[in-house]
Amino acid sequence: MTLDALFEAAQQAQARAYAPYSGFKVGAAVLDAGGGIHSGCNVENAAYPVGSCAEAGAIAAMIASGERRIAAILVLGEGEALVTPCGACRQRIREFADPRTPVHVAGPEGLRRSFTLDELLPFSFGPGNLKAGDG
Ligand code: THU
Repeated sequence: MTLDALFEAAQQAQARAYAPYSGFKVGAAVLDAGGGIHSGCNVENAAYPVGSCAEAGAIAAMIASGERRIAAILVLGEGEALVTPCGACRQRIREFADPRTPVHVAGPEGLRRSFTLDELLPFSFGPGNLKAGDG
């Protein structure tokens, strides 16, 4: 099942996360339109703001593989609270997804909750907004 495959890919990436400052390891896995799976993890930096999120890594891996559409994404983090994508990552997902794209949120034990991108980023600004411009 695709969700299981996404979970496993995110789990493997999470195990390799570089998070020495927060101690909060995150893994993400993207399902592309062709059925391929691409994973990423957070990569922190001594200069804190330079660190990057797991979602950003997974999306970069998808783009580097030649795919351009996110069919679904799963984010896996620790702790009690839902590890929903940060605001910047919601926008990163938006670039390659549409409002109905599923965003799955998991904990170490498995899937916790599923959202649509539109629930997490309503009234979003995307590539289509730029097509109307005549400037
Ligand atoms: N983080 C992610 O990688 N993805 C999320 O969805 C939430 C936060 C990372 C960033 C940072 O390395 C650590 O988690 C703590 O914020």
